[in-house]
Amino acid sequence: MSVGANIESLMHENRTFAPAASFTAKAHISSQEQYERMYRKSIDHPQEFWAEMAGDLTWLTPYSHVLDDSKPPFFKWFTGGKINIAQNCLDRHVDAGRGDKPAILWEGEPGDAKTLTYRELLTEVSRLANALKSHGVQRGDRVAIYMPMIPEAAVAMLACARIGAVHTVIFGGFAAESLADRMNDAQAVALITADGGWRRGKIVELKANADAALAKAPCVQRCIVVKRTGQDITMRPGRDVWYDDFVSGSSEHCPPAALDSEQMLFILYTSGTTGKPKGVVHTTAGYLLGAYMTCKYVFDLRKEDIYWCTADIGWVTGHTYMVYGPLACGASVVMYEGAPNQPDMDRFWSIIEKYRVSVFYTAPTAIRAFVKWGDQFPQRHDLSSLRLLGTVGEPINPEAWMWYHRVIGGEKCPIVDTWWQTETGSIMCTPLPGITPGKPGSCAIPFFGVDLAVVDRDGQEVAADTGGYLVIRKPVPSMLRTVYGDDERFKKQYYSDIPPYYFTGDGARRDKDGYFWVMGRVDDVVNVAGHRLGTMEVESALVAHSKVAEAAVVGRPDELKGQALCAFVTVKAGIPTDDALKQELKAWVAKEIGAIARPDEVRFTETLPKTRSGKIMRRLLRDIAAGKQAVGDTSTLEDYSVLAKLREDQE
Ligand code: WTA
Repeated sequence: MSVGANIESLMHENRTFAPAASFTAKAHISSQEQYERMYRKSIDHPQEFWAEMAGDLTWLTPYSHVLDDSKPPFFKWFTGGKINIAQNCLDRHVDAGRGDKPAILWEGEPGDAKTLTYRELLTEVSRLANALKSHGVQRGDRVAIYMPMIPEAAVAMLACARIGAVHTVIFGGFAAESLADRMNDAQAVALITADGGWRRGKIVELKANADAALAKAPCVQRCIVVKRTGQDITMRPGRDVWYDDFVSGSSEHCPPAALDSEQMLFILYTSGTTGKPKGVVHTTAGYLLGAYMTCKYVFDLRKEDIYWCTADIGWVTGHTYMVYGPLACGASVVMYEGAPNQPDMDRFWSIIEKYRVSVFYTAPTAIRAFVKWGDQFPQRHDLSSLRLLGTVGEPINPEAWMWYHRVIGGEKCPIVDTWWQTETGSIMCTPLPGITPGKPGSCAIPFFGVDLAVVDRDGQEVAADTGGYLVIRKPVPSMLRTVYGDDERFKKQYYSDIPPYYFTGDGARRDKDGYFWVMGRVDDVVNVAGHRLGTMEVESALVAHSKVAEAAVVGRPDELKGQALCAFVTVKAGIPTDDALKQELKAWVAKEIGAIARPDEVRFTETLPKTRSGKIMRRLLRDIAAGKQAVGDTSTLEDYSVLAKLREDQE
C-alpha cells in the first residue's frame, strides 16, 4: 500500500441535520452523555465493557476470558465459552414466544412472495442441518454457498452455523472460474446452489456455472440444488441432489452445537478494488456480538421493525446486516431477489410501500442510480413507513446524501452513513441515529470499542482537518482473525504498514467536532504538483453540479505536475455532453474546492466500471486515462465495465 506523505483535504461541508426529538426520545442511545460514558468505558475498560455487552447473548457455556491478547495480532475473544449463532438468531426468539413472527419476508423478482416465521425458519434450518450432518458434513468442514437471493440462502448459512460447519458464500454473479478458485482455496466439501435465479427478467444460470466450477474443484463431493427457476439443468448422479430430496425425511429438531467462541464461522473472499482475493476469516462469538450490537444501536433496531438491507448475501453486508444481525435482534427482514429496475425503476419503492419497511439500508452507488433515474419513481409510492435510512460501501457524496434525505427520507429520517469493511465484520464508524447530527458525506463517530484514528505514517495522530491514514488501534471482537490459510499475509496486509495498528487502507480526516470523513482508498490518492488529493472530494464536488449523476476521478502521468486529474463523468438523463459542459465542470470544481483540484480532463461516459459490489474501479480508469488501453470514443467505456467484471472474475 502507498503509505507516503499526508493527504490534503479540500472539502468543506458545513450542513448539519439534527435528529428529531421524537426519534431521540425512543432511541436506544438517547443522549450524548450516554454515548460518551459508554464509549469511554469501552476504550478505557474494554474487558468490562465487552463482558457487559456479551451478557445480551445466549451462551451455552460461560467464557473464562474476555480477551486473549498474548499473541498480537492474533487476538482471541471470549475464550472458554461455548455458543451457537443459529440458536441466538432463532431458538431464543421462538423460546420467548415470538415463533409466529415473520423472520423473512421474501419477494422474488417475478413477483412471487413467501414469508417464513421464526418457527418455520428454525424448522427449515434444523432439517438442513440434520441432512448435512447425516451426509457426513462435520464441524469445521467448509461448505460453499452459491445462491440467488432466496430464503434458502439464509437457511443454508444458518444450517452451517448450527452444526459448526464453515460457510463460504460466493456471490451469484461470479462466473465458474471465481467459484472454482474460491472452493479450491477453502477446500469445500459441499456446495449448495440453485438451478438458477432471476435477474433483470433473465435466468442467471447458477447450476451450469457450478457444473463448470465443480469440474475444476474435486474437493467438493456433494452439490445440493434448490429448484428456483425450473429450467432444464444437468444433475450428475452420485454428486448432485435436489435440495428437497436432500432434506426429506430429516428431523425437524437439531440441537444447536456447543461451539467454541473462536470456532470459524465463515470465510468470505474479498478482492476489493485491488489485488488477489483473500479469504477473510470470521469466528463465532465476537462476530455475533458485533452484528447484534450494531443492529441494536446503529439501526436502533427493535422487534417491531420491518428491516430491509438491499445487499446480496455474497457480500459481508449481506452476511452481517441481512442475516445474522437483524435476526439476532428478532426483527422481520425483507429479502428481495432481483434488480432495482425490474419491471420498472420504482421496484425498491414499491417493496417499501408493500411491506411497510421502517429501516432501509443500501449503497451510495444505488442512490446515485436513483438520482439519475429521477424523482418520479419514489414519488409514485407511500414511503411514510420509513423511520431510519442507512448507507454503506463507499463515501456518499454530499449531494447524494441530500437527495436520500429529502426524497426518500421525507426530511424526517436520520441517515446512518456506516463505515466498515469485510475485515471488520461489523460497523466501526457511524452516526448514532438518536444523538449524532448528520453531516452529509461524513461517517461521523466511532462505534463503541473502536479506537479509530487518523494518523501519519509513523502512527502519530494528525491535527483536526488534516488528511491521513485511518487506523484502528485496539482489538475489536468482530474483526477478522486471519486470512484463510495464510497468517503471514494477514500480518503483512493489515498490521505492517503502520505497526502495531490495524491499517484500514483508507485515507481520512477528522474534523474539529470529531467527525470522520473517509477520502477513499490510499491507493487511489492522486499527487498533483506535490499535493496529495483523495479522489472522494473532487468527485463529490462534481456530483454537486446539477447536471452530474456520478463521477470518478483518477490521476494520469503528467510531465509538469507529476499527475494530472482526469474526471470520468456520467450526466443526468437528457443532458447534452459537449465541450461547453466540460469547461463548465472544470470551472465548477475550481470554484467549489480550489484551483489545485481543477480537472485537467473531463470525459463523459454512460456508465462507470464497478466491482460487483458497486465500488468504482479507479484502477481500471487509471489505465484508460494513461492511455494504456485504447479507448476510442467515450461510449466504449460501457464495454470496459464489462471488461472490469471479467477481469475481477479471473483474479
Ligand atoms: C469503503 C463493505 C466511506 C472503504 C462493508 C472501506 C466506505 C471499504 C464506507 C470496505 C462509508 C465502506 N464511507 N467509505 N460509509 N463504507 N467504505 O470490504 O474504502 O466491501 O475500506 O466492506 O469500502 O469495503 P468492503
